[in-house]
Amino acid sequence: MCDGESILKKTSGRSAEQEPAVLDPGELGAFVDGFLQRRDVFLQTSRQHGSPLYVIEEDVLRERAARFTKTFRGVLPDVRVYYAMKSNNHPAIARTLVQAGLGLDVSSGLELRVALDSGAKDIVFSGPGKTDEELNLAIENRDRATLLIDSFGELQRLGGLAAKKGASIRAGVRLTTHDGLWRKFGIPLAELPRFLNVAAGSDCVCIRGLQFHTSWNLDPGKQVEFIARLGNTLSKMTPDQRAMIEFIDIGGGFWPAQGEWLQSAGTAESRTADAVMPRSVPALCHYNHPATTIEDFADDIALAVRTHLFPHVSCRICAEPGRWLCNDAMHLLLTVVDKKAEDLVITDAGTNAIGWERFETDYFPVINLSRPGRTERKCFVLGSLCTPHDVWGYAYWGEGIQPGDVLLIPTQGAYTYSLRQEFIKPLPAVVAITGPTAIRGLMT
Ligand SMILES: Cc1ncc(COP(=O)(O)O)c(C=O)c1O
Repeated sequence: MCDGESILKKTSGRSAEQEPAVLDPGELGAFVDGFLQRRDVFLQTSRQHGSPLYVIEEDVLRERAARFTKTFRGVLPDVRVYYAMKSNNHPAIARTLVQAGLGLDVSSGLELRVALDSGAKDIVFSGPGKTDEELNLAIENRDRATLLIDSFGELQRLGGLAAKKGASIRAGVRLTTHDGLWRKFGIPLAELPRFLNVAAGSDCVCIRGLQFHTSWNLDPGKQVEFIARLGNTLSKMTPDQRAMIEFIDIGGGFWPAQGEWLQSAGTAESRTADAVMPRSVPALCHYNHPATTIEDFADDIALAVRTHLFPHVSCRICAEPGRWLCNDAMHLLLTVVDKKAEDLVITDAGTNAIGWERFETDYFPVINLSRPGRTERKCFVLGSLCTPHDVWGYAYWGEGIQPGDVLLIPTQGAYTYSLRQEFIKPLPAVVAITGPTAIRGLMT
């Protein structure tokens, strides 16, 4: 199975030793209740379109986009928000967010083509190892795309390709934030003045900004720390170099405020082989790494920007949220196909629909919409793939569980749909819900 998300997790910079708190049962109950109150629309969606399904909630996307933008614009003078398409690459999500006024952040030629088709007028393209074909696509669409250059080598190739087309392209440069494997992204901060000097010699590449990205931020600590280091570098640059900077892009990595929910298997005290592949259904213990609200992220980042950056440059601040925007805007609907024991059911979908073994360690409630109940009951809820790692959860919320029951796994919008893979079972179809009740129909 694809390990993309686990790789993000292991390299996030969050200390794996930092133990989570127990997830507040009141908070969890209220979360489940919110979905039970709308069970009719989900059941109707399943009846109308079959099972399994990905369900997109466009209103949630619009609300998130408006709140993120308003929050950052409330504390900084000039802000532009770009949705990071990698977090959920369904074209309808990009289209909805573009219509809500956001730009798009893409990381490949493939994503750039989808972004162009979505009607986006303002696109940033970052990522290591861009091919000549990808650079050419960005050059051809330079009226809509800003290229965030990843290395000195890429600067040289871009200059050569743009010169061949007689074009001049607006660009920025990505800065490395961490050591180790994160060195694959961008150039070291200490190299920034030299990079700007080299770029100033090109007629075809116009450097107008800087970008960095830190991942898996439960609070703004890493962002604030890098902004302080960047301010220190800017303070030592020449006025000409500083004058080139029209934007600073602080990347994404904002964690949704509900925090990171884990099963007991994801915690240090139970990190054993049996916890990851339990023989019997594990205890119902859920944990939470709490996260900061977006308002607090914005306040702390704005203070850091004013303290460390604005004394040296007067520029726009850009952000590239992915997870924060799309996490709550997509859910999974499944159906129980087989009940093999009181504590063991098999569903019609496998976790190839989300592309990785997420629920062995991450916790999300499995809600039985067909037999609604406010009690969580222990049960292996497993998918239909030929691997025992195919786990949806170790419990369900409801009054019993039987073949034919429709299950909801809520808030699966981030780094699941993008990581889906063709493996044994067909992928679920995609349906959109607009407003609390209206089902818009199949989108694939
Ligand atoms: C450059 C860049 N920007 C933005 C994001 C989005 O991050 P998140 O979805 O955590 O907000 C990523 C994720 O990997 C990224 O690499």
